[in-house]
Amino acid sequence: MADASLEIVRESASAGLAAATDEAALERWHRQHLSASGEVSLLRRGIGKLELSERKAYGAAINALVEVLTAQYDEKRAALAQAALQARLASERVDLSLPPRARRRGALHPLRSTLREICQAFQSMGFSIYDSPHVETDEFNFQLLNIPPHHPARDMQDTFYLAPGDDPSAPMDGPTDAAARVLRTHTSAGQIRAMRAMGPGPVRVILPGLCYRNEDITTRSEVQFHQIEGLMVGTDVRMSDLKGILLQFARQIFGGDQAVRLRGSYFPFTEPSVEVDLRCALCGGAGCRVCKYTGWLELLGAGLVHPVVLENGGYDPATHRGIAFGIGLPRLVMLRHGVDDIRHFFRNDLRFLQSFR
Ligand code: DAH
Repeated sequence: MADASLEIVRESASAGLAAATDEAALERWHRQHLSASGEVSLLRRGIGKLELSERKAYGAAINALVEVLTAQYDEKRAALAQAALQARLASERVDLSLPPRARRRGALHPLRSTLREICQAFQSMGFSIYDSPHVETDEFNFQLLNIPPHHPARDMQDTFYLAPGDDPSAPMDGPTDAAARVLRTHTSAGQIRAMRAMGPGPVRVILPGLCYRNEDITTRSEVQFHQIEGLMVGTDVRMSDLKGILLQFARQIFGGDQAVRLRGSYFPFTEPSVEVDLRCALCGGAGCRVCKYTGWLELLGAGLVHPVVLENGGYDPATHRGIAFGIGLPRLVMLRHGVDDIRHFFRNDLRFLQSFR
């Protein structure tokens, strides 16, 4: 009879153990069967009621049962722990065989990278960078630069005028109004601002930035383009400084063996005015298609700052002189990199941009 009850306990305990699917169920099972207050302990208490002759065998049978159940319990615990580990490994799995996502390498826009080099070239010659506004007044863009209303030089810079105030339908102020607001047509507009900010001390600045003109968009012209203005004012500034600075600039941007030549020209804000040519970097001066077989490339306009402009900037032309130059960035980058169409610069075609990486 005693053996039969042991057998029942063993069977129900084994079944219960098999049904436990997690740690909590397992511990509940252990409390129910193998703890001090569990089923097996209750069986042990029954020993006292047996005949002396039966006690020893019964005790041994209980011990054997405890041993079997403990072994099953340990086995089950190990199996559950293993299953939990497998589940965690599966959920935290990282597939190292996946190909990596390629890192796309960016690059500076060709205008930007050459602009940086130009700034560095002038900074190495003691120039600092002066920022001036893109929205200018007619006065700063034209009049103070010795270009009065109706001056024919205005024909070369077809201008975007801004409506006064915030009302876009308001009539535009014509170019006779000094306060009329315009998008600057050249960086020269900042010359007066730089002089007024630094006077009466010496000036040695470049003014890089976008300019705007009402142009047809063609392979050679855009409605917006960068210029780099240069301005140097002092008591001991002369034309030879201009030539030396520009030669040094050309050597830094186009490499070692460069030559520049000055040709007489006209700008309202310089006197005398010159056009500065660079010996053709492609043919070395022998003549080719790019330089139209002249051996020279037109690089920029420059000159001695006109006395009227010096005065407008707050300097006395009797004691001070200035040199000024204006470099068009797109043309220079086109020459440097053999770009044949200015429109590439603002088209955002990645095939074009990536070729400068
Ligand atoms: N502002 C002129 C232009 O946009 C370029 C220029 C010519 C600037 C001569 C200068 C200069 O400072 O001296 O066409």
